[in-house]
Parts: sequence; C-alpha cells; structure tokens
Amino acid sequence: MQITLTRPDDWHLHLRDGEALQAVLPHSVRQFARAIIMPNLRPPVVTVAAAADYRQRILDALPDGARFEPLMTLYLTDSTPADEIRRAVDSGFVKAVKLYPAGATTHSDAGVSDLSQCDPALAEMERAGMPLLVHGEVTDPAIDLFDRESVFIETVLQALLKRRPGLRVVFEHITTKEAAEFVASAGDTLAATITAHHLLYNRNAIFAGGVRPHYYCLPILKREKHRAALVRAATSGSPKFFLGTDSAPHARRAKEAACGCAGCFTALSALELYAEAFDLAGSLEKLEAFASFNGADFYRLPRNKGSVILEKEAWTLPESLPYALDDELAPLRAGELLTWKLRETSDQ
Ligand code: NCD
Ligand code: ZN
Repeated sequence: MQITLTRPDDWHLHLRDGEALQAVLPHSVRQFARAIIMPNLRPPVVTVAAAADYRQRILDALPDGARFEPLMTLYLTDSTPADEIRRAVDSGFVKAVKLYPAGATTHSDAGVSDLSQCDPALAEMERAGMPLLVHGEVTDPAIDLFDRESVFIETVLQALLKRRPGLRVVFEHITTKEAAEFVASAGDTLAATITAHHLLYNRNAIFAGGVRPHYYCLPILKREKHRAALVRAATSGSPKFFLGTDSAPHARRAKEAACGCAGCFTALSALELYAEAFDLAGSLEKLEAFASFNGADFYRLPRNKGSVILEKEAWTLPESLPYALDDELAPLRAGELLTWKLRETSDQ
C-alpha cells in the first residue's frame, strides 16, 4: 500500500546550531519543505538580527541543491520591546514568537517569568497578527509534573486569550485530553501542534522494564486516555490541529545520564511515525490535511506544491546516527521496526 501527500511542513522543530545543526538538518530536509525553527539556542534568539544570522547558518548548512525554508521565531522575554515585534513582522522571515515559561524546559531559563511584563509585545503581536507559540506548562515545582499542562490552561492560557482576544496562539505539542478539548472548543485564534511520539506512546514507554531516557521529553508523555484523545483530535479533520514534531536532538551521553535531557529525536522518520499513528487509528485519509494543509493555513502561508510518497513496508531504524562533539544521536525507537517508509519526495 502506498499514499501520496502534498509536501508537508514541520511546525515545531529544534535544529540546534554548529556541528549539531549540520548533523540533523538533512533529516528534516528529506521529510519537510519548511519548518518553524525553535529559538532556544544558547544564548536564545531574542532579536530579529540574531534570527537573521541563525537563518543564514541554517541555509549555509543545507545539503547541495536542497530546497528547504526555515521559518524563524523569536524567543519572548520579560523585556521584549514592541519595536522588536514590529521589526519581526517587517522582516518577512520571522513568522512567530515563542513563549517559554522560565524554567519549563531545555534552555528556557531566559524565558518569561511574568506574562504581564510582556504586554507591549503581545499587544503588538495581536495588532499585527503575529502568532504566539506557547510552551503550555506551569513551572511551579509544587504542581505535579503530569498536571502542569492542564493547570497552565486554567491559570495562564484562558486569561491570556481573554485579555488578548485577537492574539493568534499555537498551543505547542499538546499532551492531554484537557488541552485537545480546550483547543477544539476555543475560537479560531487558537490552534495546536501534536508530536508523533505523543500520538504513539503513553507514559508507560518511559518505564518499560527500566528507565528509558529516549522517551523522556517535555511536556512528558501522559496516560493512555490522553494519548487516545490526541489521536482523536489529530484525526478529527479539525483544521486547528497540525503536525509539529518537536524533534529535539541531544547527544546520547546527555540523554543516557544520571540527569538526562528532555527531548526525543524524531526528525529521521517523522512522517513514517505519523503515518503509523494515523494508520493504527484507521484514519490515513486525514493525514494530508494534518501534515500539509492545516499549519500552512493557520500561518497564512501558501500550501506546498510538491508531494511525498509513503509506502507500507517494515524496516529497522538505525541504532544511532552521527552527531556533534564526538558523540552520537539515538533516534526515537532506535533499532526497532517501523511500519511505513518515506519513498520519494518531489518539489513540484
Ligand atoms: C526541547 C529541547 O530539547 O529543546 N525538549 C523537549 O523535551 N521537547 C524543548 C521543548 O520543546 O520543550
Ligand atoms: Zn520544542
């Protein structure tokens, strides 16, 4: 069996920088025409000038002849001025601004500590139609790790949408039934990305026979009922849900450690993983809108022209891939079988 999709995009991707960027970029380029590039470098990408430099480093790292458009984002801080937002809008290549609550995840310490401080920037984004991409978890250590997304909806997101009704928001990498239902019932200013790993796995994967650090990401995998709700949302046909891998590479040594980093590397086989999830749900016919139309439409960008062909065929993922700093990278589900394979990509 074979399916053909309009060329998809990845609406949430970590490409890192330097040697790591060189190592991971070709995988995303094989799979996607464009990607929203996360700004959580060290130091974070807080200005349009920094985003322009980062964009150029990505373009310079492209394999010869490859066509791939990095869609850049700015990292919101307590002191992002409205002027920087205006510059971002005028740049044409910055497509969104990312909100990391300070301390919520990898490289988020420079993030927002008090959202009310961001009001000048948010007002300008609302005026200009520039989307805010939200890492939707509270950071209060008193709140259970598994509840941090639903508490974020109740204590932060609802108030934000009320205060800025025209602000266009993407609730990134949603992981709970509460988030899926909240997005589905909200107005059309709110959409969400969903990762392949949150569609395929529940939290048992992190503890299957021992601690499995490659299944540790943030927001963390949740119970089965939440996974099932995400699959229902992704396959519902609603234009509010779209593909965002959150592929987040970390060297094997940094993952397989006493304090392992959060992040799953899925860029190698992202479309195959999504195809498997949609196939298991009996909804392959819903994959194209989720992967190739809904995100572009929300971002008000043209849909891609090319196509990809996926074939139902079992193959084994490599155990590891080359990575920076003399270390290697383990893809999610390393050494295990996948049921779909990306066969062909064409640009027209
Ligand atoms: C991401 C990373 O490593 O940059 N990690 C993750 O677990 N998803 C950061 C993020 O998106 O939260
Ligand atoms: Zn991410």
